[in-house]
Amino acid sequence: MIESIEKIRTTAIDKVAEATSSEELEKLRVQYLGKKGELTQVLRGMGKLPPEERPKVGQLANQVRQELEKALQEAKENLARRELAERLKSETIDVTLPGRPIRKGSRHPLYQILNEIKDIFIGLGFDVAEGPEVESDYYNFEALNLPKDHPARDMQDSFYITPDVLLRTHTSPVQARVMESRKPEIPIRIIAPGKVYRRDDDATHSPMFFQVEGLLIDKRVTFGDLKGTLMAFLKQMFGKEVGVRFRPSYFPFTEPSAEVDMSCVMCGGEGCRVCSQTGWLEILGCGMVHPRVLSMSGYDPQEVSGFAFGLGVDRVAMLKYGIDDLRMFYDNDLRFLRQF
Ligand code: FA5
Ligand code: MG
Repeated sequence: MIESIEKIRTTAIDKVAEATSSEELEKLRVQYLGKKGELTQVLRGMGKLPPEERPKVGQLANQVRQELEKALQEAKENLARRELAERLKSETIDVTLPGRPIRKGSRHPLYQILNEIKDIFIGLGFDVAEGPEVESDYYNFEALNLPKDHPARDMQDSFYITPDVLLRTHTSPVQARVMESRKPEIPIRIIAPGKVYRRDDDATHSPMFFQVEGLLIDKRVTFGDLKGTLMAFLKQMFGKEVGVRFRPSYFPFTEPSAEVDMSCVMCGGEGCRVCSQTGWLEILGCGMVHPRVLSMSGYDPQEVSGFAFGLGVDRVAMLKYGIDDLRMFYDNDLRFLRQF
């Protein structure tokens, strides 16, 4: 009897240790401890034993039952833990989405050029001034010596809000605004960058474009100062290689006046669509501030003189980047804009 209990003990405990599922464990429990289980059967047969052996056998049988129960319980818990761990692993759902990448943008090429231009003039001692894009007829024309019937107004047709208010056609009205607000202070040394509007539309003319105005008022300012300043700017902007020419021109608000052309980078000066077969592309207008403009804005032309210029930012960008149609800057085609 003792042997069969010992046998049950070793085999049962081994089997329990080897079981790989809760079902198997339950089967083992029934097999040994169930109503008709092996250990139960042994205990049932105790009655046939001589009375002096009963306590010993009974004790052993109880001990084995307890051991077996404990082993079953532990194995069950271990299995349950392992099964849970496996289920958690196999049923894991990744609820996180990959993050949406934020595409890195870039500054618009015209603003890159505008910033470069500003930096150079700030380096030369100029301040940055501003004026409104919706401008009065007075500042856009009148204060610049362009009275109502002046034929030069025709070159700068614009978009009118009322007969006396328009989208400014150039940044020159800022000249008058700054002089008026600072008179009689000298020196004035400002640039005024911003958008301007005209009834224009072709490969080198946009209905909205950027200009940078420049104005310097002081005692004894000469055309040499103007030329030196502009050459210093162009040299920094383009390097030495690009050809520059000053061409006599006319503006009612400067006297004498000139326009500055740069040799066309598209054709290298041979003549093409961009430069209208001339080999040159105009980038700015300039001149010595007209005495009437000075006096209209509160400065005495006998006391001070000055120069002014109006630079076409889009044209500078075309030349710098080799773009043959400035409308590309305004098409908002990302394939184009991402290249800068
Ligand atoms: C003027 O606008 C004068 N206010 C410049 C000036 C300022 C002269 C101060 C004297 C003293 P103009 O119309 O030429 O001038 O224009 C100046 C520059 O703007 C041109 O040289 C050209 O580079 C650019 N520009 C003119 N029209 C357009 C356009 N539609 N699209 C792009 N750039 C233009
Ligand atoms: Mg011009």
